[in-house]
Amino acid sequence: MIFYFSATGNSKYAAERIADATDDRLVFLRDAVRGRRYRYEVGREERIGFVAPTYFWGLPSILGFFLEKLELEGYTNQYVYVVLTCGEHTGGAADQMAKLLKKKGIALSAQFGIPMVDNYVPMFKVADGEEIERKLDEAEEYIDEARRAIRARGIGDYNRCRGMVPGMQTAALYPLYARGRSTKPFVVTEQCIGCGLCQEICPCGAISLAGGKPEWRKSKCVRCLGCLHRCPVEAIHWKTADENRGRYYNPRVEP
Ligand SMILES: Cc1cc2nc3c(=O)[nH]c(=O)nc-3n(C[C@H](O)[C@H](O)[C@H](O)COP(=O)(O)O)c2cc1C
Ligand code: SF4
Ligand code: SF4
Repeated sequence: MIFYFSATGNSKYAAERIADATDDRLVFLRDAVRGRRYRYEVGREERIGFVAPTYFWGLPSILGFFLEKLELEGYTNQYVYVVLTCGEHTGGAADQMAKLLKKKGIALSAQFGIPMVDNYVPMFKVADGEEIERKLDEAEEYIDEARRAIRARGIGDYNRCRGMVPGMQTAALYPLYARGRSTKPFVVTEQCIGCGLCQEICPCGAISLAGGKPEWRKSKCVRCLGCLHRCPVEAIHWKTADENRGRYYNPRVEP
């Protein structure tokens, strides 16, 4: 079973490629959380995987929320792994994962990191078309390595993109995410056509389309940027900081 979260397709792509190699079931955390589905039966030999993006060198809040509630019926020390996609570095995100799992009596067997395309437009410009293809080509090697190791139930640290001082990176930056995640910076322009996609895809129900245009009715969200990147007319912005920084969805996977 593979539990995955993804806003702009990178982790979805990685999860699907791993599922192809292992024949494992996929569970999309957005749907699980929105449907309040937290109890899963696992077979004695079943691998249990978590695939997610890295946020501020740590884990997306939805993963922590889900893990707290997760009940794995039939868990008897099966093989458990985490795959973190990122723009460049995962920092100590996998260590956070190991701690959260340990609290539930679950041991993390292996960790992987896959550098893909950075979607954090509040700080960076999205790569252009050719560069996206180059980065995704390079990511294939990391995905293949993860597929082989997971199929063979390889144990250990396979993560080649933790960064120089992963624990310190996370300690310095993650609190900004954990305490922040404010929805205040989101703005919507006149270009909005009221299609409702942003409301539909938001993993935490933060968006309401009551007046025909999105309103952020929650003060905090996952900050996945799915609404901003996937709006078909680019009407959602992060204050004005994302001007000309582009939009992204992994071109190798169906939204
Ligand atoms: C809130 C946020 C924080 C991010 N922080 C990091 C980071 O600390 N390190 C990094 O390499 N990439 C970071 N990224 C980039 C994503 O991890 C990367 O683009 C990821 O593959 C996106 O996955 P997805 O397409 O499955 O949503 C961040 C993205 C977001 C939205
Ligand atoms: S996705 Fe874009 S166009 Fe559609 S309702 Fe949201 S802001 Fe408006
Ligand atoms: S409001 Fe946008 S950025 Fe925040 S969780 Fe929902 S889709 Fe993601």
